[in-house]
Amino acid sequence: MAFIKTENLSFAYDDDLSHAALKNINIEINEGEFVAILGHNGSGKSTLAKHLNGILLPTEGRVTVDGMDTADDEALIKIRRTAGMVFQNPDNQIVASIVEEDVAFAPENLGIDPLEIRKRVDEALETVGMTKYKNHSAHMLSGGQKQRVAIAGLLAMKPKCIILDEPTAMLDPKGRKEVMKTIKKLNSEENITIVLITHYMDEAAKAKRVIVMNKGEVMLDDTPHYVFQNAGLLKSIGLDVPQSTELMFELRKQDIKVPLAVISDDECVTVLKEILEEDRVTD
Ligand SMILES: Nc1ncnc2c1ncn2[C@@H]1O[C@H](COP(=O)(O)OP(=O)(O)O)[C@@H](O)[C@H]1O
Ligand SMILES: [Mg+2]
Repeated sequence: MAFIKTENLSFAYDDDLSHAALKNINIEINEGEFVAILGHNGSGKSTLAKHLNGILLPTEGRVTVDGMDTADDEALIKIRRTAGMVFQNPDNQIVASIVEEDVAFAPENLGIDPLEIRKRVDEALETVGMTKYKNHSAHMLSGGQKQRVAIAGLLAMKPKCIILDEPTAMLDPKGRKEVMKTIKKLNSEENITIVLITHYMDEAAKAKRVIVMNKGEVMLDDTPHYVFQNAGLLKSIGLDVPQSTELMFELRKQDIKVPLAVISDDECVTVLKEILEEDRVTD
């Protein structure tokens, strides 16, 4: 059974589906997947994300999380604990002045035993690499550090899934890297299902699956290698491809036979190295 499932999900902010923000979305996400959601501004990414943990409810259709229907009032608290959300603005997510108090805030509200909370807070801070800041003032941290504290706050709730809505959009390159490294680690080491909404192609390229949204609909849903081969289609809806993919397209235009399925700097280096070495042999 799919861990997150949307069935014919349509949604309009004013209940009038003639101008729907989401149109007949059918996706299934399995436990342990790392899915990126790409799309131009206004394509419906945030609206979709908010359906995946019951912040918004479908106008039509159904969303289930770990078998629970998001429209079921009684399941809502459990759904929110199962699928936590990280938002774009790091400052809006800090609730307590000291880092470890901030991480403990949600489990404290659940009435979890203090010893258990202590353990969870320590583990969560360790996982996001923020242990040495545990007694620091949360407001003094960098954007990347604040996002990692926000992630730790979710981890203390032991979620199975984390949905991140453009978590790096307001960060500098260093902060972006820290947060991406943390997200990848949560997926590969803790088996937490990741839904990462982003408009950075290089971040989407790190996922195992990319869903491309356009005007409230799912346009592509495949591996990043396949998705980024559709450069023309992506450009027509205002998206780019990763720089390394773009370079391959430009080389092809010059009749240099390179594969198109190149989405990372490492793959790009491998391809270019092969070409250069071939040249050396024939020289
Ligand atoms: N709170 C809201 N009330 C009314 N319309 C909204 C609201 N939030 C978003 N929309 C509209 O819904 C559509 C999808 O928006 P959104 O999900 O925020 O897209 P994205 O996250 O991809 O930029 C857009 O047309 C947007 O203007
Ligand atoms: Mg958005």
